[in-house]
Order: sequence, then structure tokens, then C-alpha cells
Amino acid sequence: MNLLNISLQSRVIIGISAMVFLFSSFLIAFISNQRKKLQYHMNLQAINERQQQALKEQNILLEERVKDRTRELSEQKESLQVALTKLKSSQLQLIQKEKMASLGEVASGIAHEIQNPLNFVNNFAELNAELLEELKEHLSKDHLSDVEKEDVGSLVDNVIQNLQKINMHGKRAENIVKNMLLHAKSSTGEEELTDINFMVEEYLKLGYHSFRAKDNSFNAALITHYDTSLERINVVQQDIGRVLMNIYNNAFYSLNEKAKKDMPGYKPEISVSTKREGDSVIITIRDNGLGISKKYIDKIFQPFFTTKPTGTSTGLGLSLSYDIIKAHQGELKVDSAEGEFAEFIVELVYE
Ligand SMILES: Nc1ncnc2c1ncn2[C@@H]1O[C@H](COP(=O)(O)OP(=O)(O)OP(=O)(O)O)[C@@H](O)[C@H]1O
Ligand SMILES: [Mg+2]
Repeated sequence: MNLLNISLQSRVIIGISAMVFLFSSFLIAFISNQRKKLQYHMNLQAINERQQQALKEQNILLEERVKDRTRELSEQKESLQVALTKLKSSQLQLIQKEKMASLGEVASGIAHEIQNPLNFVNNFAELNAELLEELKEHLSKDHLSDVEKEDVGSLVDNVIQNLQKINMHGKRAENIVKNMLLHAKSSTGEEELTDINFMVEEYLKLGYHSFRAKDNSFNAALITHYDTSLERINVVQQDIGRVLMNIYNNAFYSLNEKAKKDMPGYKPEISVSTKREGDSVIITIRDNGLGISKKYIDKIFQPFFTTKPTGTSTGLGLSLSYDIIKAHQGELKVDSAEGEFAEFIVELVYE
């Protein structure tokens, strides 16, 4: 019983000590675990702080880079702006120069062209003064012999002929001045939405009939192909009408000149077509007349260039047409084979 008592006591002690031991080892384990966790969290925080720091630095760096880049870009923009302004002003200067050059060219052309008919007018007027003096002498006599009467008659004829020449060359000078005024007035009109097919057709008929009114032996086949899907285009109608009229007149003239040669099987023909090409309307006017020789083709758009007989033309039609089409931001081109055809292509641009 005693033994059992002792053993029970010791058992209790052993039990308690075991519990104390277990508890303290649990406590130690718990504390050390908590410590580890604390350490881990502290480490994590340190890492986090370092990362935050790095991020901040990175951000500052990036912001600086962005600022640098923005500065660079705005500098580039400014220098581009300066370059653009310079370009615009030099473009304006170029246009101005071109205008002045063509004005100079035209002015010297007028001077040159008018000089010629004026010389005729002056010379014939002087000649007439001399002839009239002679006439006066004859008429101062009381009686005129038959020979003298004949002389007087031929003197009067000469005076009349000279007056006709004075009149012809005076008209030519007047024509030059009129065309020059048209040149100067070429771009005052307002742009209007226009049915190009209608205009091309109307002026073709008008041109044909007014040409036939001058020479009714002239006949030509008018062949037309219009692109009916064309939208209306903004143009100065009066100016484009003038261009069409000039080109048609030249074509009819050339057809008529070739027809006069009586070549077997020759049938004068003018083909007119319109079509849309990208942002443009293309008007093509082709005649199977005399064509243009290679040596002249580069000159036909120059003011006063003409191959027509003196007194009939001023050579301003195509130069005026060229200026009008350029003022519409379009193109006027020519293609030809001498003796076979001449083709004029007008390109107008939709805005
Ligand atoms: N369809 C054509 N066929 C052949 N030659 C042409 C044709 N169109 C123009 N030419 C040539 O180009 C020249 C210049 O034409 P432009 O219309 O400028 O003047 P012009 O017809 O001679 O005179 P204007 O038109 O002032 O009465 C003509 O004289 C002619 O030699
Ligand atoms: Mg002409």
C-alpha cells in the first residue's frame, strides 16, 4: 500500500513534471516559432520597403525621361514649325517669281507682237501720205491727160489698199490687246458646282457651229464618250468654257486645214471623252488633223506662239488655257503625232 502510495506520489510528480516539461517545450517551440514569424515579417517589410524605394527611384527616373523626351519633341516640333514657315514663305516667293517671270514674258511678248502690226500701220500711213501728196499735185492741174487720169486712179487704188492693210494690222494689234485683257482677267470668276459632261458637250456644239459659220464647207464627225457617273465638280465655268473653246477651235482649224489637202479617204474627226480617275476628271479631246511637229510641241503653251498666218491668230489660246487649268490645280497635257493626230488632256481635281 505504502509502495503503492509512493509510486502514486512519484507518478503524480512525474506526471506534473512531464506536463511542465511538455508545456515549457511547447512554450519554447511556440515562442521560437513566433520569433521566426516576426523575423520573416520584418524581412518581408524590409524587402517591401526596398522595393518601394526602387520603384520610387524608377518612377523619378521615368518621369525625368518623359520630361526629356517631351522637351526633345517640343524642340523638334518647334524646329519643324520654323522649317514649315520657311518652306511656305519660299514657296510663296517661288510662286511670286514664277508669276513675275510669266508676266515679264507676257509683257515682252506683247511689246514684240504689237511692234510688228504697228510697224505696218506706221509704214503704210507714211506711204499713204506720200501717195496723197502726189495725188494732190496731179489734181492741182487744170486739165488731166488720160495717162494722168490713169495715174490718179492707180494712186487712189494704192491708197485704198494701204488703208485696208492699216486696218488689218490695226485689228491685229487690237486683238492682241483684247486677248491680253482676257489673260489678265482669267481668274476673277467664282467657282460653281458644274456638270462637266454637259459643258464639254455644249461647247463642242458651240465651237463646231461657230467654226462652220465661218466656213460652211467644213464638216467633221463629232464622237463623244461621256462617263455618266461623274459627280459635279467645282470650277469657274466661264474659264473652263474658254479652255474648251480654245482647244476645240484649234482642233477644228487643224481638221479643216488637213481637209483642204483633199487626201483620198480622209474623214475629219474629233473625239471627246470624259472619265473619272481617282480624285480627278479627265477630259480628252483628240482630232485626226495635221498634228503638231516635234519641234513645236514644247512651244505651244508659250504666249504668242502660233503657226497660223499672220493677222489671224495671236497665239494666246493655249497659254491662257494652261494658266486657267493651273489656277484650278489641274493639268493640261498634249500628245501628238505629226500628220496623224493631236490630243489634249485636261485634268481637273475634286477637292
Ligand atoms: N489641235 C491642234 N492640232 C495641230 N496644232 C495645234 C493644235 N492645237 C494647237 N496647235 C498648235 O499650237 C499653236 C498654238 O495654239 P494657240 O491656241 O495657243 O494659238 P493659236 O490657235 O495659234 O492662236 P489663238 O488661239 O490665239 O487664236 C497653234 O498655232 C498650232 O500650231
Ligand atoms: Mg488657238
